[in-house]
Amino acid sequence: MSAIERTDAAPAGLEDFPPGVEPNETLRVIGSARAMRRLRPDPVPDALVRALVWAGTRAASPNNSQLWRFVVVRDADQKAAIGGALERFVRWIDSLGEPADGRDAHIRTEARHLAVSIADAPVLLVVCAEHSYPERGPDLRYLWPAVNTASQNVLVAARSLGLGATLTMMHVGNEQAVRDILGLPDDVHIGTMIPVGWPDRPFGPVRRRPLDDVVHHDRWRGGGHARDAKDPQ
Ligand SMILES: Cc1cc2nc3c(=O)[nH]c(=O)nc-3n(C[C@H](O)[C@H](O)[C@H](O)COP(=O)(O)O)c2cc1C
Repeated sequence: MSAIERTDAAPAGLEDFPPGVEPNETLRVIGSARAMRRLRPDPVPDALVRALVWAGTRAASPNNSQLWRFVVVRDADQKAAIGGALERFVRWIDSLGEPADGRDAHIRTEARHLAVSIADAPVLLVVCAEHSYPERGPDLRYLWPAVNTASQNVLVAARSLGLGATLTMMHVGNEQAVRDILGLPDDVHIGTMIPVGWPDRPFGPVRRRPLDDVVHHDRWRGGGHARDAKDPQ
């Protein structure tokens, strides 16, 4: 039995999969790799963490520059220090007005939980990138996509191994503090922080807008914003 079957207690996330294509295991993984913010404290073996980093480093990057760098944080003191730096993020969430709806309220509660409990996550994967491409004049427009391709590969690989993970940018409100804790050189930027652990909630379908809300054929038609479209839930 695969890791996907073993951990699934909810629909596989293929409810709106386009007809005419038989979804394979990779597509099933993608369809159910939702943000997993509730993690069990049980340790994650090194081999699995290395598999996640391997997946991250299989990603595309401009001219195969492989700008990404990974800081794997497992040390309790380091995680606690990062947790301290995230207090600003927590205060920011607490300062927001009324949530727009139940889904907004839910994400806030869960994101807050993840931030305050970051020291309990078995692994914190910090996906960074070197600001070095192109060589003749480094341009951040190349750096961020490289971080993101690697990060998404990590999320998908985690799901495929039965691990929970969430792409976060919790560092942005106190980036220098996080940089100092990690000891990053000046030319290395933090892209994402991905807490990883065994899931404490069932994986479930990722809920997304219907394709027709977000796809334009050959050229943009209509002036509406996607956010005006019907809520996917
Ligand atoms: C650029 C980016 C930044 C994000 N930042 C955070 C974050 O700081 N904290 C958090 O808990 N989730 C964060 N997320 C996760 C999103 O909230 C999540 O992908 C989205 O709500 C969809 O959730 P689902 O996959 O469970 O459907 C971020 C995702 C992206 C792509």
